[in-house]
Amino acid sequence: MRIVILGSGAGGGVPQWNCGCRNCEAARAGRIPAMSQSGIAVSANGRDWALVNASPDLRQQLAATPALRPGGLRGSPIRSVLVTNGDIDHVAGLLTLREGQGFDLFATPAIHAVLAANPMLAALDPRLVARRELALEESFELAPGLVARLFAVPGKVPLYMEGEQVETDLMGEQTVGVELAAEGRRVFYIPGCASVPDWLCERISGADALLFDGTLWTDDEMVRAGLGAKTGRRMGHVPVSGPDGSLEGLRDLALGARIYVHLNNSNPLVDPASPERAMAQAAGWQIGHDGMEIAP
Ligand code: MLT
Ligand code: MN
Ligand code: ZN
Repeated sequence: MRIVILGSGAGGGVPQWNCGCRNCEAARAGRIPAMSQSGIAVSANGRDWALVNASPDLRQQLAATPALRPGGLRGSPIRSVLVTNGDIDHVAGLLTLREGQGFDLFATPAIHAVLAANPMLAALDPRLVARRELALEESFELAPGLVARLFAVPGKVPLYMEGEQVETDLMGEQTVGVELAAEGRRVFYIPGCASVPDWLCERISGADALLFDGTLWTDDEMVRAGLGAKTGRRMGHVPVSGPDGSLEGLRDLALGARIYVHLNNSNPLVDPASPERAMAQAAGWQIGHDGMEIAP
């Protein structure tokens, strides 16, 4: 299996257009790497690829990834796109894929309903782009030789669908993790997750790689930095640090590789020289970066 991290950042990316925080300024100055918004590409055979999540930065991400370029006058090695929730940073890139190219668009029925309610996405011609509904826990062929399965993880509805009351650790079709399998290798991709329950640890234990929600280092870092009023938990993202964080929650699992993805610009892990990054690395974590490739 080959996995390319197309975008390692969370919604907004690094730098975010309207943010002057330390990390965003450092990225503008070229002192730390920029991060585009969240998504990966996966292949079992190196020829046929699936995108998992389609970020607003997809056009540049595809241009920067040789394996995803067209082989001829018109065409694409991208056979399918799977989205793990309806958030803008995971679906807006679908509009980039509107140029008369066929592929399968996979999501749960609930996420498909959100997409279907958006008239602009009719730009994806249904005669070319098949919208395929996936039940949770159903195995399916995402691309030739690549089997995937979706499962509910604690999360919430997309930000733009929030009503008065928001359940932030909803278990259902709105936010899913993906299990990817090819040639006996098993990888989990979970870019958004509100907590780390025991059942999740049991589920991913023994995997060859885990790509996990690294949005925030501490739950209230955006509040403390004066960047916003929301905590990570309110956004449906478990923090990395702390007693209930993912570093602690996933610490004892046997995993071939563990990689944080979907990093917010407020997260000190974004800075390669930060003590927080050294701490995560000492616990066995790698920090995803744009263009990073693994072959689990
Ligand atoms: C998130 O991951 O919390 C969302 O991407 C937020 C957003 O839609 O900007
Ligand atoms: Mn996001
Ligand atoms: Zn910033």
